[in-house]
Amino acid sequence: MAAQEKRKSLQGLWSSRLVFILAVSGSAVGLGNIWKFPYIAGDNGGGAFVLVYLVCVFTIGLPIMMSEILIGRRGRRNPIMTMKIVGEEEAGQSWWQIVGISGVLAGFLILSFYSVVAGWALAYIFKSATGTFHGIDGPGVEKVFGDLTGNWQILMMWHTLFMLMTVGVVARGVQRGLEQAVRVLMPALVGLLLILFVYAINHGAFVEALNFMFRADFDRLTADSVLVALGHAFFTLSLGMGAVMAYGAYLPEGTSILSTSIAVVFADTIIALLAGMVIFPIVFAHGLDAGQGPGLIFQTLPLAFGQMTGGVIFGTMFFVLLSFAAWTSSIGLIEPAVAWLTERFHMQRPQAAWLVGGITWVLGVGSVLSFNLLADFKIWRPGKDPGTIFDSLDHLASNLMLPLGGLLIAVFAGWVMCQNATSEELDIGDGGIYKLWRFLTRVVAPAMVLLIFLRGVGLI
Ligand code: PFF
Repeated sequence: MAAQEKRKSLQGLWSSRLVFILAVSGSAVGLGNIWKFPYIAGDNGGGAFVLVYLVCVFTIGLPIMMSEILIGRRGRRNPIMTMKIVGEEEAGQSWWQIVGISGVLAGFLILSFYSVVAGWALAYIFKSATGTFHGIDGPGVEKVFGDLTGNWQILMMWHTLFMLMTVGVVARGVQRGLEQAVRVLMPALVGLLLILFVYAINHGAFVEALNFMFRADFDRLTADSVLVALGHAFFTLSLGMGAVMAYGAYLPEGTSILSTSIAVVFADTIIALLAGMVIFPIVFAHGLDAGQGPGLIFQTLPLAFGQMTGGVIFGTMFFVLLSFAAWTSSIGLIEPAVAWLTERFHMQRPQAAWLVGGITWVLGVGSVLSFNLLADFKIWRPGKDPGTIFDSLDHLASNLMLPLGGLLIAVFAGWVMCQNATSEELDIGDGGIYKLWRFLTRVVAPAMVLLIFLRGVGLI
């Protein structure tokens, strides 16, 4: 315990609890909520998928988020060193650092394709602002999207710009600038989603959309879609890869981990559901296909912007905010690797950020080419049809690495760490809520992840 009291964060601390909530929500709320959730819900048949996703978020995601924060604050280092230090302290085992290593790798993989999609959002800012969507129809939006993704040089340019933006912020240190941005931008994003929501209620096929999203038809649920729902619960909450653990390392003592985690999980879930309730009414009102894949929001929202008064302004603002949401998330993806390089090898923060950004940029080229030159190059995936480089990176990182990372984190917090340590960090006494957290972390989360995982990859 004495060692624990002496250990200080090497990168400074968040200035308040609110800032920490904003930073974790900034990492959680991103393309996952607005781009990915609607399209995978559409691909996997809607209602039953949404239900499984919600169950995963609250019974697995919430306790694991608490675990990541408490481990991070206990170790006060980057995820690799934190897992090593706390593993040694609690059980004399240093091999737990493998969880941090896999997390850092997952961060590289995810950011490499995330940056490409964030590049689409950047491109759409200019398209909206220059009136491209004015009065556009279904085939029109498909063509705009197809022309963008079909051109690898243009995609490359946007991907490069987004990586430069990410590295630029991380190089300066996360606290300055980013905190301010998140404080203003997150409420603005929600405000704009609400405006679109009102539009969708008035002009979209709202009832049909609600039926699609909330009527659970379990016949459409396959083992693979349950795995996708689980993977998405981790992805959307930024769990299973040490991002939240890295942020937890900068959390002042005495800040409540329980209430912070609940706030983040609710905010994230509400934004995803809101995005779905904006997008599906437009999909059904225009006879579009809900299962059209990654292009879904880029081919539905412009239809709404093209028809509404003030659409140019709303459309531009929307894609600006979407890009910001992606930006605050991409910083969470790169932070574990950057913190590791600075703490372990005493690299300067800017150098570490450029190195990580450079490697990720190169990896991202594979995803850029997946939509054009290499569209027919398909890779084998466990439990799934072969997919493009883009699809395969997403599947490997989100559906396999994050759940496995999360499983190990739950086992670590629930079984390896002693009860005194976890109850002291959580600081909620040893009553019902602590017992519930411990039960979910020791039994429910590991068992569910393991079952879904093995079934999803076809091993049981
Ligand atoms: N949670 C982000 C989203 O939903 O877009 C994605 C993400 C960010 C995953 C940061 C992991 C992470 F560390």
